[in-house]
Amino acid sequence: MKTRMLLYGLIFTAAVLIGLVLVAARPVVAAPPAQEADIARGGALYDNWMAALGVEAPAGNMPIWDRQTNNTRSGPDTWRCVSCHGWDYQGNQGAYRSGTNFTGFPGVYPSSQEKSVDELVGILKGEQDPEHDFSAYLDDAALTDVATFLKDATVDDNEFIDMTTLKVKEGDQAHGQSLYDETCASCHGADGQTITFRFEGQSVPLGALADRDPWRFLHKTRFGTPGTDMVVGHNFGRTAQDGRDVLLYAQDTLEDNAPGLPEPALEQDRVEQPDRGGPASNFFTGILTAISVMIAGLGLNILIFAVLAGMIMLLVWVVRRR
Ligand code: HEC
Ligand code: HEC
Repeated sequence: MKTRMLLYGLIFTAAVLIGLVLVAARPVVAAPPAQEADIARGGALYDNWMAALGVEAPAGNMPIWDRQTNNTRSGPDTWRCVSCHGWDYQGNQGAYRSGTNFTGFPGVYPSSQEKSVDELVGILKGEQDPEHDFSAYLDDAALTDVATFLKDATVDDNEFIDMTTLKVKEGDQAHGQSLYDETCASCHGADGQTITFRFEGQSVPLGALADRDPWRFLHKTRFGTPGTDMVVGHNFGRTAQDGRDVLLYAQDTLEDNAPGLPEPALEQDRVEQPDRGGPASNFFTGILTAISVMIAGLGLNILIFAVLAGMIMLLVWVVRRR
């Protein structure tokens, strides 16, 4: 009898050990080869991933777009990160808090400072909101680039921009001028008139854009204009302050000859619409999401142990009955 008990004990211990080994040896998803994320590409993707990748826009509007009615853009623009989250990355808390660009959609700064690149990639794959899924259009490398850009390269310029006049508050204009003459004038002209851009349905020169949308100016100065050969400040070590210096120079000296446009100012006709968060937008659903993530992570291990324990109990029971 004693030896038999010993035998059961051994069988039990062996089974548990084998189970543990099996669980430990479960194939771990191989980490992707450590590859530097391309932040400048991430910035370009944020601006216009279709132009950056050279692909056609998906048909129709981005599904989330139709949760709002204030912003009347449609088609390709509705698929751009910037249309919903803003050139200042602050969505309904920033420059898009009012006016025709208002959507009510949230910003991505500073929440992206708090999240990991993996969590941000998850958000872009629709893990928080199934309609916020870009994985059919952007591959993992592209999603990692844009997530790394959000985490490491976005800054809060609104501390440096007067929200009434839209002028840069602190900057070195002389330094801005030397940077402009060195790297921008060759294409845009010393007076900023050589290339014009579409802005609010009009064709405007660089000076007018600097006055009216300083955030767009800063983003482009740092990360270029996707699909063109424009220089990318980020790639040659230009700092955030360098960008603001160039902006200040452009605001103060480049001619703003866009007669049809109103004076630079944030459009103040605030549209009162509720915040448009995703599923995990309140405390209760937040907890539910957290629990489901935990269960998903633990589930497999618990299952293996349960099956193992069941088998052992069955074995012991059968042997004892004999
Ligand atoms: C190699 C030529 C080239 C250089 C150098 C260059 N740009 Fe550009 N830039 C372009 C082109 C091309 C466009 C896109 C025009 C268009 O949208 O059709 C552009 C667009 C822009 C825009 C975006 C306008 C919009 O549509 O929002 C800004 C702002 C801008 N440039 C600022 C600068 C600044 C500041 C510098 C210097 C740091 C600079 N550029 C240097 C070629 C250049
Ligand atoms: C049509 C509008 C729209 C577009 C386009 C869009 N988003 Fe979003 N985004 C949202 C909304 C709404 C939320 C809020 C939660 C949700 O629904 O997922 C969100 C949430 C986020 C969050 C999480 C913010 C937080 O506070 O946790 C990040 C990060 C993000 N988006 C990045 C991007 C990037 C990068 C792109 C471009 C590839 C993009 N979004 C394109 C509407 C949009």
